[in-house]
Amino acid sequence: MNNITYINNKFVKHSKAKISVEDRGFLFADSIYELIGIFNKEIIDTDQHLNRLDSSLKKVKIKYRFNKEKFKKIITKLIKLNNIFNGYIYIQITRGVSERKHEFPKKYKPTTIIFTKHLNIDKKIYEKGVKIITIPDLRWLRRDIKTTSLLANVLSKQLAIEKNAFESWLIDNGNITEGSASNAWIIKSSNTIITHPANNKILKGVTRDTVIKILKKNNFNIKERPFNLIEAKNAKEAFLTSSTLSVLPVVKIDNYNVSNGKPGDITKKIMYLYNNYIVKNKNSLAKELKIA
Ligand code: PDD
Repeated sequence: MNNITYINNKFVKHSKAKISVEDRGFLFADSIYELIGIFNKEIIDTDQHLNRLDSSLKKVKIKYRFNKEKFKKIITKLIKLNNIFNGYIYIQITRGVSERKHEFPKKYKPTTIIFTKHLNIDKKIYEKGVKIITIPDLRWLRRDIKTTSLLANVLSKQLAIEKNAFESWLIDNGNITEGSASNAWIIKSSNTIITHPANNKILKGVTRDTVIKILKKNNFNIKERPFNLIEAKNAKEAFLTSSTLSVLPVVKIDNYNVSNGKPGDITKKIMYLYNNYIVKNKNSLAKELKIA
């Protein structure tokens, strides 16, 4: 099967897509990224992801001639070329290649790479739900930027895996901020759905925003406010969201069962509504680009 990657205006074989050892993305993680989910060939929330990409570029001051339409065309071309049914598009932009000095180079040409991946997520995790552990949030204080500087996230996720859990939820000042690669949600016994507010302490997930919109439209009671570990362990239900996982039930937090260790009814309803949203948006990008 083809595996074509985009690198700096060229479409090349994935194995031939190379960057310099002096690329600042490699040396300093001076670099931002975006990851867009693909379900049944449909690219989910493209505009929101590309807007966040543009905003990340601005936040880290990478000078870039951002052209949303160009990105959309590259993305659709790659999905076609690589025949992606379920998977994701990964975009990374770095501050380019230059001599290793911390300060920005006076002149630089950003590196842009875009590749796709097939993903086969085991359906069982949605039926059974997953276990998460909680650990201290050791990250910097600009978690709103989707930077590739992810070492603290990598270590957190690894710890979860070593403890036979799926994900780590991170605790900052007594409150759960988010997961190592997902946003965290709980549902109280009053049926109020709670997730951390979108500030510098979390990444404002695109899936999170879409789920909030869907919940509001369907008259759920939703509150964006911090919640602590005791609230999480006493929650009626819990779940996590991300572009690759959509809405995934959480049934165990550390050693505490949530909703009797099974995905809860409200979570199931939210999964259903989110899946409907994906189906309804079918071909939206292709239609926009007039290639459907
Ligand atoms: N991560 N929080 C963090 C720290 C994340 O890394 C992610 C996604 C999210 C959810 O954001 P979104 O709904 O926009 O995917 C929240 C991606 C999937 C990754 O790095 O693999």
